[in-house]
Amino acid sequence: MNVYDAARMADILAPLGYAAVDGPEAADLIILNTCHIREKAAEKVYSDLGRLQPLKSGARAPLIAVAGCVAQAEGEEVRRRAPYVDMVFGPQTYHRLPEMIAHIARGTGAVLDTEFPAEPKFDYLPKPLPTDIGERAVAAFLTVQEGCDKFCTFCVVPYTRGPEYSRSVAAVEAEARALVEAGAAEITLLGQNVNAYHGAGDGGAAKGLAALIRRLARIAGLARIRYTTSHPRDVDDALIACHADEEKLMPFLHLPVQSGSDRMLAAMNRGHRADDYRRIVDRLRAGRPDLALSSDFIVGFPGESDADFEATLALVRDIGFASAFSFKYSARPGTPAAALEDQVADAVKDERLQRLQALLRVQQDAFNRSLIGQVVPVLFERRGRHDGQIAGRTPYLQALHAHAPENWLGSVRDVRVVAVGPNSLAGAPAAGSDAISSPERIPA
Ligand code: 5AD
Ligand code: SF4
Repeated sequence: MNVYDAARMADILAPLGYAAVDGPEAADLIILNTCHIREKAAEKVYSDLGRLQPLKSGARAPLIAVAGCVAQAEGEEVRRRAPYVDMVFGPQTYHRLPEMIAHIARGTGAVLDTEFPAEPKFDYLPKPLPTDIGERAVAAFLTVQEGCDKFCTFCVVPYTRGPEYSRSVAAVEAEARALVEAGAAEITLLGQNVNAYHGAGDGGAAKGLAALIRRLARIAGLARIRYTTSHPRDVDDALIACHADEEKLMPFLHLPVQSGSDRMLAAMNRGHRADDYRRIVDRLRAGRPDLALSSDFIVGFPGESDADFEATLALVRDIGFASAFSFKYSARPGTPAAALEDQVADAVKDERLQRLQALLRVQQDAFNRSLIGQVVPVLFERRGRHDGQIAGRTPYLQALHAHAPENWLGSVRDVRVVAVGPNSLAGAPAAGSDAISSPERIPA
């Protein structure tokens, strides 16, 4: 979502004459768009700021801004630790960038804007310029929902991104059409809780994510739809049905579970048990047998015992993930879990993380290898690292590169997977692949 927000900041800055440059030295304005989810990400901001500070006394003396969730959560603290920062603003107020810059230009001092304004920023952002979108991506992001009301006890998002908000179906569709007209063939619908989406439909009544996906699937020229990140509690029948029969919805789902222990899930306030997750996956796979799953895991949540951790490993073995993100629990200021007494020692977290990641790596490897020899439709997005090579993604979000004609960029083509590398698959054009691949679906 920060990638999407950064693109929208560029949209609102373009009419003021700003354009992207290659590095901080050439910039008149530097915006650090920050993440507060774990301590490591949040602290990185201050080391990055330290590196930028010397530019302030250089010839160009750029404006420096801190945006995003660190700005939202730490506000004044950012200015205290880095007084040379000109603007500090949260994820909900970046539509006010022109006013903030004007304020600085008047010499009236630094700007701190960490409000949760009543007006949704989306209504104030200009339509992105087709040339900018075209340069940005064949596979584009589109925020449809923001914020979270779930209050998992470890998580800062409800505090930094604020309460849940869904954009209207019409607003989302208009932005999707603009993206497709500018060359996007894939759209990933974004939200902290994207499947809690409940945007106003044409008649005013709220529509769920499944209805939104079906509506967007009617856009000619849009080949692929994805969404992230979803919550097990909000996977409803309509969404399961969508995975079963909506051809444009890719058979890959990032569905964070965090832990396989019911005791931990309760302590985390996740609102479901490990078996509920297993059942949801069973139902999804019943309709779409080749569905590949990805997840997020936290190890070392306060009070996590060896048995709790073993339950997480057991769940991973049961499900079989195509990819995953796993983290050591990081105590975040102001969240309920940070105040719990039975914090887990860092050495124990390290050991558990290594064991979990080893298991997840084996599963990811096995999944990648299972595709060798198969023909998969690949959306080619960019030139590869080597001459004559282009790169894109499979339906399962795996990166793939192949020696193939450059005019394949921006289209979906059939490719035979020939090898699995450390970071991507290698493919070769399949017979008949000069034709644009349709349908997307590959046999399970
Ligand atoms: N510590 C560790 N990981 C966290 N996440 C969120 N908050 C924390 C935290 N305090 C992880 C969760 C979430 C992902 C985006 O980040 O796994 O799904
Ligand atoms: Fe954070 Fe996701 Fe839980 Fe919301 S549902 S509090 S964003 S982990």
